[in-house]
Amino acid sequence: MKQYLPLWIVGAIIGVFSTALLVAYALVKDKKESMGFERTMKDGELMKRLLKYAKPYWFSFVIVGLVMLLSISYSILSPILISRIEKIVESGNFAYSDVLWRVIVYAAILIGSLVGTYVQAIVLQKTGQRIISHLREDTFTHIESLSHAQLSHLPVGKLVTRVSNDTNAISMMFTGMLANLVKNVFVIVGVLVAMLCINYMLTLMVLCFVPFIVLFTIIFRKFSRRAYRQVKNGTTDINTYLSEHLSGMKVIQVFNREERKMREFDVKNNTLYRAQRGQIFVFGIFRPVVYMLHISSVLCLFFLGSKGALENRPILGQVVDGATIVAFYMFVSRFFSPIQNLAEQFHRLQSAFASAEKIFTVLDIKPDVVDDEDAIELDEIRGEIEFKDVWFAYNEGEWVLKGVSFHINAKDTVAFVGATGSGKTTILSLLCRNYDIQQGEILLDGINIRRIKIASLRKHFGQMLQDVFLFAGTVRSNIVLRDEFSDEQVLEACRYVNADKFIERLADGLNEEVRERGNNFSAGQRQLLSFARTIIHRPEVMILDEATANIDTETELLIQDSLNKMMNIGTMLIVAHRLSTIQHADNIIVLSDGKIIEQGNHHELLHQKGRYYELYTLQFNKEQLQKGA
Ligand SMILES: Nc1ncnc2c1ncn2[C@@H]1O[C@H](COP(=O)(O)OP(=O)(O)OP(=O)(O)O)[C@@H](O)[C@H]1O
Ligand SMILES: [Mg+2]
Repeated sequence: MKQYLPLWIVGAIIGVFSTALLVAYALVKDKKESMGFERTMKDGELMKRLLKYAKPYWFSFVIVGLVMLLSISYSILSPILISRIEKIVESGNFAYSDVLWRVIVYAAILIGSLVGTYVQAIVLQKTGQRIISHLREDTFTHIESLSHAQLSHLPVGKLVTRVSNDTNAISMMFTGMLANLVKNVFVIVGVLVAMLCINYMLTLMVLCFVPFIVLFTIIFRKFSRRAYRQVKNGTTDINTYLSEHLSGMKVIQVFNREERKMREFDVKNNTLYRAQRGQIFVFGIFRPVVYMLHISSVLCLFFLGSKGALENRPILGQVVDGATIVAFYMFVSRFFSPIQNLAEQFHRLQSAFASAEKIFTVLDIKPDVVDDEDAIELDEIRGEIEFKDVWFAYNEGEWVLKGVSFHINAKDTVAFVGATGSGKTTILSLLCRNYDIQQGEILLDGINIRRIKIASLRKHFGQMLQDVFLFAGTVRSNIVLRDEFSDEQVLEACRYVNADKFIERLADGLNEEVRERGNNFSAGQRQLLSFARTIIHRPEVMILDEATANIDTETELLIQDSLNKMMNIGTMLIVAHRLSTIQHADNIIVLSDGKIIEQGNHHELLHQKGRYYELYTLQFNKEQLQKGA
């Protein structure tokens, strides 16, 4: 008994650790709440779809496989070579060249394996990035094809995460995880076979530690899942909070809420900090524990091996010598580290799969406004528009337009007037088929717009929307969008809509930088830029949803003047809040609660003394009052 004391000590230490961890495992409850990993798609299905993206690059993967053989063979062959060298040296009677060629072979496989690892990393990174850029492109194109209704159901923050983070998680899977997984499995099996060939007795001894590794891995998985979930929730929480509050920072400052928001942020920040610390703690326990098993097996190996070697005593019928001990010493570390690696990679693989599913869910959304199979291309239009008993609801049952019918002659200017929420923007939006209507017909030049290809339909419309959207870029890039125009054409468009004056005052003129969402321009300037953007593309039908924001009188006059000019270009639909804007319109349609209550020109409507008359006198009196003041 006594002569095996060291083994008893090792056994006792492992026993104590196992018991402690098992107790912790039993005591800590793992909430079965959402991990963000729950999936409806099967692993196989996801893998199949992912592999479809990887398929064009099969050649790269073959190269990686071949190169990987180098590092796998290094793991397996190097201990054998070293043990041979040891044996020769130990014998004391050897030719120098015997050692030398073995050392050279060792160096050669080592260099081969290092080069192999480098090539593998480069090829995998390159391929992974290509696959991901393809996937990202598909996701973006798909999001572009979704209708307004579908887009409004997908929060922007989530979409950004899909296109950036989730694709990245998948990229990591292609670039590192899968290759490592395959390599680790091969190394484990290879090392095991090599060990068995050399000495099955010592192999069995090493294998005695495997059940403990399995046990610790199971325990570790429970804790790491918990930690991972907390970190993930914490990160999502803080991201959501940040994105919302950064965009609302001005409001926070105006209402003096900085301190309160800071405290809220602190709480979230601390939660994330604690979660991260927890995760580090879990890994901090797991790695040393596996290392302890590793060292224990080395201790046992040295103890039993040296005992056998020194006393020249066969164990289980096998004699152990110094060379075997050296080989096993090296094998043991090559055996343990891939196992530890596999256990740690498990979650990352799961999270990559979860990301893949989220992306595929977005890719699986069928665009609900699509071209009919026999949709036609419209090259030129006159610009005659008709709504025939149109019923429309954003949400089922909540009718926003209730049987709207009107007719607009080509080149006419028609204005829509009505209280806020009466459906003016909705009408304009339906015309470009941002949404499909539930009942009735919308005709362009007598053709139902559902029968026209969407791209071809929208080409004919120039939309100037209520909140003008400017992209980050330059004044010029915001006017031309993606099309080609000469500077002269751009300037001409600007002159036409009176945007030239303020552009001339800018330090860089047309090349002046436009910041995100155009927040370095005033509301009036943004509106003029959107006019220039519309005019330069020469649409047959222009749609203007006038901003309610207040603009200074000078800009208002400029806008009024450019509007008057634009009215002569083609058919024009205007939603106007300042009724003075639309006095010259050919027809004014007054809406109330999704229905048309009056229509006619300015004079006819004033004469009728209805809703329009009320609105007009109200505004007129207000203006008189302001002037008087
Ligand atoms: N994307 C949407 N989803 C659901 N309901 C919507 C959506 N957009 C508008 N609505 C609803 O439709 C109704 C009409 O909205 P619309 O934007 O057409 O009004 P509007 O006449 O343009 O008002 P305003 O003068 O304020 O611009 C409103 O009751 C609004 O709540
Ligand atoms: Mg509106």
